[in-house]
Amino acid sequence: MVEPIRKSTREQREEWLRQCHYNVFMLRADQVYIDCITDSGTGAMSDRQWAALMMGDESYAGATSFYRLKETINRITGFDYVLPTHQGRAAENVLFSYLVHEGDYVPGNSHFDTTKGHIESRKAFAIDCTIDEAKDTQLEHPFKGNVDLKKLEKALTEHAGKVPFVIVTITNNTAGGQPVSMQNLREVSAMCGKYNVPLIFDSARFAENAYFIKTREEGYKDVTIKEICREMFSLADGMTMSSKKDGLVNMGGFIATKHEEWYEGAKGYLICFEGFLTYGGMNGRDMDALAVGLDENTEFDMLETRIKQVQYLAAKLDEYGIPYQRPVGGHAIFLDADRILTHVPKEEFPAQTLTVELYREAGIRGCEIGYILADRDPVTKENRFGGLDFLRLCIARRVYTNNHMDVIAAAIKNVYDRREQITRGLKIVWEAPLLRHFTVKLAPAGEE
Ligand code: F0G
Repeated sequence: MVEPIRKSTREQREEWLRQCHYNVFMLRADQVYIDCITDSGTGAMSDRQWAALMMGDESYAGATSFYRLKETINRITGFDYVLPTHQGRAAENVLFSYLVHEGDYVPGNSHFDTTKGHIESRKAFAIDCTIDEAKDTQLEHPFKGNVDLKKLEKALTEHAGKVPFVIVTITNNTAGGQPVSMQNLREVSAMCGKYNVPLIFDSARFAENAYFIKTREEGYKDVTIKEICREMFSLADGMTMSSKKDGLVNMGGFIATKHEEWYEGAKGYLICFEGFLTYGGMNGRDMDALAVGLDENTEFDMLETRIKQVQYLAAKLDEYGIPYQRPVGGHAIFLDADRILTHVPKEEFPAQTLTVELYREAGIRGCEIGYILADRDPVTKENRFGGLDFLRLCIARRVYTNNHMDVIAAAIKNVYDRREQITRGLKIVWEAPLLRHFTVKLAPAGEE
């Protein structure tokens, strides 16, 4: 499918920014020229996926579409038990309802915001154990998504008896779409075994993770993506999945596990929150499209074409000297706003300011993955300024051409060239207590 192109003027965008309170989530899609807000559910389905839709079995119970999906998930992950959900956060909601309790601690590598939200809303705590190398955006490290084993061991010993599981996000979205090496997954799995704590993979971009293992890790050059996936998942007890990314569908998710008792424990919540066991919030036809998508996206050619496009954009930014999280990850470019808008104080949210500037410049919509997304500390209620402050520009799968990449790069360069003149950022006018970045209302910091 293609969409008509819609151009707008700078004056129009200025007005729309005011109307949406400088929160680009509140823009209408037709006010956007190139949309890089997310790679979630924004990909284009293939001919085979559209054909599979026609096979959808919409039976309430026992739909054959479910069994086709389950068989595919079994084959790719090795997990026997599958619970479909309407998206990734729903998988978190269902599984964490069973596993996470008040006062628990859940170590991981830069938990995604909904993952953190589903932990903190249960009055439990997420402990970030990502390696320190991820904090230096200019450092070249092939697996910046890795877990720091010393930090993990500290968390496991300090909170012994209060850790329901460890969650490793592959690829690590929040740290910049950065992969986790097989070696690291193996070591984390062994440590979880030592402390008798289960291991879950947040697998939204597991196939991209497998691509990086194949292309960057010794010993995997001649191993297929599907074999790498099987090996990764053999190290975990279960997974949560947002199928909207590496499942190549517009909506969907699932839980898969090797433990029958997890399936038994979570299934009541699935029925309550999502739907019956064989659809869990998904249409039969969408489960069929997902089964095909999972197969297509665990093939090297598909992944290489996609990731090379992200690398093409990164190479343009290198030409212009624009700093981003290096080396570029799988699904997006993460511009290092602290290094670009050096005159905007962190209290005025540099990455959000850059997000607004890029939209103002060219109608390109990115997404802040920074201080606003980090929410406030649940105990002190202070803003969390400890992490990185990124403008993330996601590339949708099978949607844009490299011409679009050229336009994105040129627009970023235009903003970069006038960065010295950008001295004020934004202030928060209204925010939700949790997951505030979706709905936050902002205003220019200098204005009354
Ligand atoms: N885990 C990771 C690593 C994610 O990136 C996301 C979603 C989720 C879980 C939740 O999945 O959206 O299907 O409920 N990430 C999107 C993003 C929204 O833009 O990065 P969901």
